[in-house]
Amino acid sequence: MYLIVKHSHLTLMLISVVFLIIRVLATTNNAQWLQRKWAKISPHVIDTFLLISAIMLMVIIGQYPIADPWLSAKLLALVGYIGFGTLAIKGDKSTLKRLAFLLIALTFIGFMIVVAITKNPFPWML
Ligand code: HEM
Repeated sequence: MYLIVKHSHLTLMLISVVFLIIRVLATTNNAQWLQRKWAKISPHVIDTFLLISAIMLMVIIGQYPIADPWLSAKLLALVGYIGFGTLAIKGDKSTLKRLAFLLIALTFIGFMIVVAITKNPFPWML
């Protein structure tokens, strides 16, 4: 069970990141498919399942945010990822600004990966 949920977590995370990159690049090209219903709904569906897998993992390993600071760090970083990811896609912005916001969102993802592996909210202080 644990391995199935963990691999689902990692796969969903990868799909979420790749789809964010594709959508930001498509936004800079004014791609029409971004207006389609599936393109608007699927990121929410993917992120919901990602969160469900995260909750299942927390229950399985018995560790939770606040009690376990590395999970608080992941939760905060998730807010950063979603916030900067949204900034990269929405609104009337230059391509440079969109790519800068995307880079910041990807930095949050990188942080979450390192924190998940090290279980340390300050991985640079190992
Ligand atoms: C989209 C952002 C996320 C990324 C990039 C990410 C990344 C990862 C990675 C790489 C692992 C495997 C670590 C390992 O055991 O080697 C993992 C496991 C895990 N993640 Fe996430 N995760 C994300 C979102 C979340 C969120 C929001 C939570 C909950 C606050 C969470 C909770 C967990 C838990 C509990 C594990 C299991 C750790 C273990 O098996 O010991 N993840 N995550």
